[in-house]
Amino acid sequence: MKIHGIPYRSLWVKQGDPHTIQLIDQRYLPHKFVIEEIRTLDEIASAIQEMHLRGAPLIGVAAAFGMYLALLDAPSDQSLEKIMEDASSRLKATRPTAVNLQWAIERQLKVIRRMRSKEEGVQLLFEEAQKMAEEDVESCRRIGEHGLRLIEAIRAKKGGGAVHILTHCNAGWLACIDWGTATSPMYQAFDKGIDLHIWVNETRPRNQGASLTAWELGQHGVSHTVIVDNASGYLMQRRKIDLAIVGSDRTTATGDVANKIGTYLMALAAHDNGIPFYVALPSTSIDWEKREGISEILIEERRAEEVTHIQGLCDGEIKKVLLTPRETQVANYAFDVTPRRLVTALITERGVCPATEEGLLQLFPEKRMPP
Ligand code: MRU
Repeated sequence: MKIHGIPYRSLWVKQGDPHTIQLIDQRYLPHKFVIEEIRTLDEIASAIQEMHLRGAPLIGVAAAFGMYLALLDAPSDQSLEKIMEDASSRLKATRPTAVNLQWAIERQLKVIRRMRSKEEGVQLLFEEAQKMAEEDVESCRRIGEHGLRLIEAIRAKKGGGAVHILTHCNAGWLACIDWGTATSPMYQAFDKGIDLHIWVNETRPRNQGASLTAWELGQHGVSHTVIVDNASGYLMQRRKIDLAIVGSDRTTATGDVANKIGTYLMALAAHDNGIPFYVALPSTSIDWEKREGISEILIEERRAEEVTHIQGLCDGEIKKVLLTPRETQVANYAFDVTPRRLVTALITERGVCPATEEGLLQLFPEKRMPP
């Protein structure tokens, strides 16, 4: 997607220097556009943990490059298997909820089994990480095509006027490599000339909606309004929202969806108001081994400071200010699980399906267990 008219991805290999990964440091958006350079496993692990980059698909691709950098950096006198195992544990510990992270690391661990020398391993890991990045772009593009049809159908049913879509957190191109998951249908609808308006939940505590989604949509020229998270129910009651599209950090084989905290409450309000609630996700976000999201998905708990403080621009400088009494006790759950009964449908790269085990297996028959 474009920033000031120039095409960017969220992360890429530095031109002419395959030892350096460049990424947009999302901590400073929308106020400052900073490109960070990463050369080591430690740097990529802390970039994931400290959310210089975030979003399930992007975390996955970043971890794949992390595995590559770990081997590239490895001293030749050490066991390469041990180095890869340590890198895998280090990366997996950074963010527990998004399954893409584990998926990408496992894929790299499979690749490494084919290596006959360190040099060959480095090359294989590099190629695989690049392949994952390209696959993510293509998956997101296709999610957009399938989601576009849903938007077109809602527009036809409305019989005119703008289509109003609610979204939460940032499931945009910054959370992926390009296009985004929830935003891809929006960008494709906008590019086709469909009149759209996006309601963007600010998404406390990190405000990914207010700072990232609003910025992305603005860069592309898509009309949008930021609202506080608690306002979406009110807007639904006033029929100001036609549909909701959110992303997913982990979807179970049965269709339960773990996504940014607050998604469940949005889905409840959508259900109560008869508003379609869609989840857009690449298949890399499906955890085929989990069946019950609420009991089986580990929810990341993050630092209290994300709740007690808020970051913004003040006198031209990015600053953090304290919101709560200094000693207040805080809980910071980063994700919640929306049960499948509240999800109208899942939008994947292979098409749209009900949020059920059978729905997913119809699209991904290779995951069906042999009888
Ligand atoms: O904590 P974050 O910012 O990594 O959470 C991101 C989200 O919850 C996104 O909605 C999710 O990854 C969907 S993917 C594009």
